[in-house]
Amino acid sequence: MDAPQSARLASAAARERTPVLRARKLSVHYGSRRELRRGHGHVAVDGLSFDIAAGETVGLVGESGCGKSSLARVLAGLQQPRQGYLAIQGQTMQSARDWRQARRCVQMVFQDPAASLDPRMRVRSLLEEPLRALRPEWDAAERAAKIDESLRAVGLSVEHGDRHAHRLSGGQAQRVAIARAIIVAPDLLICDEPLSALDVSVQAQIINLLREIQQQTGMALLLITHDLAVVRALCDRVYVMYLGSFMEQGRADDVLARPAHPYTRALLSCVPRLEAGETSPILLEGELPDPKNRPSGCVFRTRCPMVDDICARSVPDWHRQPHGGYSACHFAAHQASPMTARAMR
Ligand SMILES: Nc1ncnc2c1ncn2[C@@H]1O[C@H](COP(=O)(O)OP(=O)(O)OP(=O)(O)O)[C@@H](O)[C@H]1O
Ligand code: SF4
Ligand SMILES: [Mg+2]
Repeated sequence: MDAPQSARLASAAARERTPVLRARKLSVHYGSRRELRRGHGHVAVDGLSFDIAAGETVGLVGESGCGKSSLARVLAGLQQPRQGYLAIQGQTMQSARDWRQARRCVQMVFQDPAASLDPRMRVRSLLEEPLRALRPEWDAAERAAKIDESLRAVGLSVEHGDRHAHRLSGGQAQRVAIARAIIVAPDLLICDEPLSALDVSVQAQIINLLREIQQQTGMALLLITHDLAVVRALCDRVYVMYLGSFMEQGRADDVLARPAHPYTRALLSCVPRLEAGETSPILLEGELPDPKNRPSGCVFRTRCPMVDDICARSVPDWHRQPHGGYSACHFAAHQASPMTARAMR
């Protein structure tokens, strides 16, 4: 093999290894400037680190208010993190200019399709907008062909392109929102509760649609949802989040079949159809603590049925689990290797 060829192969291999998204110690705080300066802000996301590989589907679950949308907005460049490092396709995202260059790579679909589309616009114009912004080199005929292709890809007819957004049903509007996101061929699609505003039969259609699109395009998908059955149906890996921190992570099938963290077990116990043999839900006492006064040590300790003295004194490290994933609990059985644990913090 000649030198240029081996250099080309090495760089192709390096590209393959580069995750679509790499986050390190990402934090999101809310509050007035004065509060943020004094460190009295409201901690929505607390130093999270993770990667998403090309073509992977990653689920993010956790109860309302735990910081899922705040994290998603930072990953999509819609909000600045307070601290931390974020790279998209190996490029560090620091400035608005970095995001302009990476805009095509990451697209987002929101919870309420009706609210995310301008009701006065025709579907065709809604789909043309991102093409004009992100594919300025395309002419009108290329844009029209791509719009027709995208409508068909999301199961709509070309005639839907002439409708105003306010004349679409919820399911059709969410299909248009998905078409608008995938029309620029993103490397990562972030879907923040894409099903929760839809009725159950439409939810199933949208799940199938996301699965098909992903299989055809090979894009990575970050799926934020309350529905653990959806995670099981679609996701390769899952992160379980509580009060701005990850509690457990691993392969979705394994984590949902053998949850190790008390919080994941409580979440799962409330979904009887997923838990063979489990009949009574583990009811967590109390509300999510005030993010301005996060508990010391393990943030879950004020509601954990297994809490012990050590839980208030020290933040649990990641511990490797028999399911191959990791749990951040002092009482998880197998200690992660120090190197792996460091890399995941
Ligand atoms: N713009 C904001 N200003 C101040 N606080 C905010 C803002 N957005 C979110 N928060 C707070 O940050 C925390 C996390 O909110 P976030 O919307 O990220 O949670 P979530 O997990 O997406 O919840 P849900 O499942 O209800 O959508 C909450 O306590 C919320 O009140
Ligand atoms: S570290 Fe303690 S409080 Fe946290 S999940 Fe484990 S047992 Fe519960
Ligand atoms: Mg949210």
